[in-house]
Amino acid sequence: MEKNFKRTTVTAALPYANGPVHIGHLAGVYVPADIYVRYLRLKRRDVIFIGGSDEHGVPVTIRAKKEGCTPQDVVDRYHALIKRSFEEFGISFDIYSRTTSETHHKLASDFFRKLYDNNKFVELESEQFYDEQEHQFLTDRNIMGECPRCHAQGAYGDQCEKCGSTLSPDELINPVNKLTGNKLVKRPTNHWYLPLNDYQQWLEKWILEEHKEWRPNVYGQCKSWLDNGLKPRAVTRDLDWGIPVPVEGAEGKVLYVWFDAPIGYISNTKELLPDSWEKWWKDPETRLIHFIGKDNIVFHCIVFPSMLKAEGSYILPDNVPSNEFLNLEGDKISTSRNWAVWLNEYLVDFPGKQDVLRYVLTANAPETKDNDFTWSDFQARNNNELVAIYGNFVNRALQLTKKYFDGAVPPCGELSDYDRQTLGEFAEVKAKVENLLENFCFRDAQKEVMNLARIGNKYLADTEPWKLAKTDMARVGTILNLSLQLVANLSIAFEPFLPFSSAKLRRMLNIQEIEWDRLGSTDLLAVGHQLEAPQLLFEKIEDSAIDAQMQRLADIKKANEAANFQAAPIKPTIAFDDFEKLDIRVGRVLECEAVPKMKKLLKFKIDDGINGRTIVSGIAQHYKPEELVGKEVLFIANLAPRQFKNGLVSEGMILSAEDFDGSLAVTSLLREVKPGSEVK
Ligand code: MF3
Ligand code: ZN
Repeated sequence: MEKNFKRTTVTAALPYANGPVHIGHLAGVYVPADIYVRYLRLKRRDVIFIGGSDEHGVPVTIRAKKEGCTPQDVVDRYHALIKRSFEEFGISFDIYSRTTSETHHKLASDFFRKLYDNNKFVELESEQFYDEQEHQFLTDRNIMGECPRCHAQGAYGDQCEKCGSTLSPDELINPVNKLTGNKLVKRPTNHWYLPLNDYQQWLEKWILEEHKEWRPNVYGQCKSWLDNGLKPRAVTRDLDWGIPVPVEGAEGKVLYVWFDAPIGYISNTKELLPDSWEKWWKDPETRLIHFIGKDNIVFHCIVFPSMLKAEGSYILPDNVPSNEFLNLEGDKISTSRNWAVWLNEYLVDFPGKQDVLRYVLTANAPETKDNDFTWSDFQARNNNELVAIYGNFVNRALQLTKKYFDGAVPPCGELSDYDRQTLGEFAEVKAKVENLLENFCFRDAQKEVMNLARIGNKYLADTEPWKLAKTDMARVGTILNLSLQLVANLSIAFEPFLPFSSAKLRRMLNIQEIEWDRLGSTDLLAVGHQLEAPQLLFEKIEDSAIDAQMQRLADIKKANEAANFQAAPIKPTIAFDDFEKLDIRVGRVLECEAVPKMKKLLKFKIDDGINGRTIVSGIAQHYKPEELVGKEVLFIANLAPRQFKNGLVSEGMILSAEDFDGSLAVTSLLREVKPGSEVK
């Protein structure tokens, strides 16, 4: 799908500089953006790749107060950490700057002022929560109170993390200042709003009619926002961290972080190319692509384009490839719950294995739906694909060449039908991979390239040159020549995905330059060309390394569960008479067995001191039947009998306690008493 454009501006969402980056960030935004950019560069297209840290916003101020430092300290620390992580993983930004830069403050401020001067904003008064002791208005995130839905304490003004509800601060019960605990009052305050409703019709046409090719998740989210009808959005905040609102009388107000941050893409371009930045943002022959995660869709598809349109001199995004979320071992990645694989920590545990993570994240990229990262899949993809297919093929081809031809590329003789067939499959890949990459299908593109390695690996296994060495060296030469050409092709095709391994492979092949358009050719290596000594491209990952990661996650889960445990509220008071109606007894377990087809049930024969009875209890997932035989338990003796679907009747109920993790513990006594004793 070649379009008519001269250059491409690629942006990747600016991560908040209030914490390190994790695999979710990498999978969702930075690896796909990097693959795309590396591909365009290999195609010799004109492209710039813009990144940077998003350093304003409330979370930074909260973290600063908690740590007793300034917001600037916080962003300095995390900007450096994030920048290093991206470098280490080969995310090849042309610039990675920050929204606290002077260039950005000026550009964002001027941008606002131009819209202000051209009456693109409406000024509205609203009632906001105010802390009279601290003399400050509070943003949603800084307000805390009781959740109106689940009644957990400590819900935020924008959402309750306990039950996941989206909230507005007005809904909170007893709202207080999160940091000081002070009670809050309502006070009127003025803010500037971008009247998105004025852009509704234009957006409908631009997105819904003219960009039907956007990914279904992106298009669908835009459509739902538009169908709901757009409302004016405040673009300023009462806060002391950010870019001051450049209007007289607006002291104590800053630009809303989501107003300034996307302008950061432009500022960072300007910092990179002070003299020519405008052509990357204003020339209609420039194509603009934003790589983002799904929580950013509305800002990049609706708000930012409306800002650009209001300003009037900028181009609009051509595509906004947004991914869904990556989960970790089945649970949502969460910074506050430490449920993540942090990039800096990964490299401590798996030094030098950047490409393995890149590979696995692309193979599982959440392109169309949320997806799961698991350590066992990580190991399997490394061992069964990178090592057993790609690495094995490369290693065999190079080792055999070293053994039989002293590491010099042998001449290629006459081709067999099988040779021709193999080359034919190779020749097709270029067009396939290109088409997939141009359409942002990175996962499938990588699969195609791995398939190429698979074809090569199979070719060597099928032709078995090591068996021919005694009889037909010319044929061995032909097989190895072709194999080496395929290996060289892989170094090109994998370059966007696995840049470190490609570089290593190029060193072994003793070649410097590679060009995408040579992909598919069989003369990448000249006859007689001397190769370097072969090394392994990938290493097996042992079970012990994976077990260590799983243990780490299990420990985190335990710690979280312990920290999150809250006893259930006490039920309404009952009279003593009501309690006396219950007949609780001691029983001895005579027999206990599983119930066929009922996974949760155990069937007990209980000595109740009278005639004995049968009790069925839903604790099979917590106890093995033999564990309980001979034990004394407490049970309710006068509960109406209950019949199960399979006809089984339970004459009572065994008491157990439910721990906070949902596990059940059967109640027992501190000393032995006779079966049938009453519990009072
Ligand atoms: N910091 C935001 C996030 O992590 C993304 C900002 S993207 C930009 O969700 F366009 F605003 F820069
Ligand atoms: Zn709640």
